[in-house]
Amino acid sequence: MAPLLDRLGRPVEDLRLSVTDRCNLRCRYCMPREVFGPDHAFLPRSELLSFEELSRLARVFVGLGVRKLRLTGGEPLLRHDLPDLVAQLAVIPGLEDVALTTNGVLLRRDAAALAAAGLRRITVSLDALDDATFQQLADTKAPVGTVLDGIEAAREAGLDPVKVNCVLQRGVNDDQIEALAGWARDTGVTLRFIEFMDVGTTNGWVRDRMVPAEEVAQRIGASWPIEPVEPDRPADVAERFRYLDGAGEVGIIASVSRPFCDTCTRARLSAVGELYTCLFAAKGTDLRELLRSGATDTDLAATVAAVWGARTDRASELRAEAGLTGPRVEMSYIGG
Ligand code: GTP
Ligand code: 5AD
Ligand code: SF4
Ligand code: SF4
Repeated sequence: MAPLLDRLGRPVEDLRLSVTDRCNLRCRYCMPREVFGPDHAFLPRSELLSFEELSRLARVFVGLGVRKLRLTGGEPLLRHDLPDLVAQLAVIPGLEDVALTTNGVLLRRDAAALAAAGLRRITVSLDALDDATFQQLADTKAPVGTVLDGIEAAREAGLDPVKVNCVLQRGVNDDQIEALAGWARDTGVTLRFIEFMDVGTTNGWVRDRMVPAEEVAQRIGASWPIEPVEPDRPADVAERFRYLDGAGEVGIIASVSRPFCDTCTRARLSAVGELYTCLFAAKGTDLRELLRSGATDTDLAATVAAVWGARTDRASELRAEAGLTGPRVEMSYIGG
């Protein structure tokens, strides 16, 4: 079968499934408490896709070319019995990779069950190593040690190497670059720094807050010399660097200063089953209605193929050219 390509010639290879819109943290750049407070209406359970619906859709996407799956949220570990979903996904023929992005708070509880269910890889979000900055950023009373212990649990469970993502904001946590890099070098986790993006409309993004990739690389290199590493796959979002002293690698995700839309093979599914073809889209295509009204797998595949086939998204490149305007979905709703 000919690969399914969008209008710019990009295949669909990665699917990111959001399994809940809830989170146990309130990172100010993602779910500010003023917006996601006690009165915020999260999705009722009946609205969420069931595990059966999620696995069925995943199979349809794999039939169209998807090879990598990533579970996200919100915080995916808030979804009850998540390892059961992992077990259903891990056995889909043709799928090469099942990964999960988490804030790590509940990882000590779940790491072993996730690994046993067939999860291969895990990425933990961690924006600071010191308690004060972590608690202020994530708007939580939980100590950062809870996340560090979760990372340890993941490694003990065999989910190794663990990746750690750090979103940098100037004046907020850019003083953590060396501490985080040093910690990652010592522990052997794969650290990636991410440029703060104007995703969603509630995080108060201003360009000056973003720490450009070049500056991050320079700062790391000043402490520990580094050199660039060739990417494994063209679709990889992180630029990789190797420490010359042999202490592993560090990555930088330059989504703002060096956008990578030309190789973007990622589709995203919200927790209610809407298909988004870009992180910056205003709305998605409802697949749940189709699922629940008796559509066959062939019908579902035809709809996905039509949506992907019409895709022209390249929001980050457009931002670089002209700036972004207009409504767009919140990151916590479709995952990172
Ligand atoms: P691996 O498969 O482990 O390499 O994961 P990944 O490289 O896809 O990275 P991950 O899923 O951890 O994404 C890291 C961060 O990169 C996200 O939290 C986003 O900030 C950013 N990112 C990922 N995908 C996209 C994308 O399609 N567009 C943009 N603009 N940013 C993205
Ligand atoms: N810019 C960049 N990354 C973001 N994330 C959430 N919001 C943003 C943003 N505005 C990242 C989180 C996490 C992943 C789910 O998405 O830090 O690593
Ligand atoms: Fe939760 Fe992750 Fe958003 Fe923080 S960035 S509020 S941990 S979903
Ligand atoms: Fe893909 Fe949209 Fe991100 Fe560009 S901005 S890399 S098209 S998700």
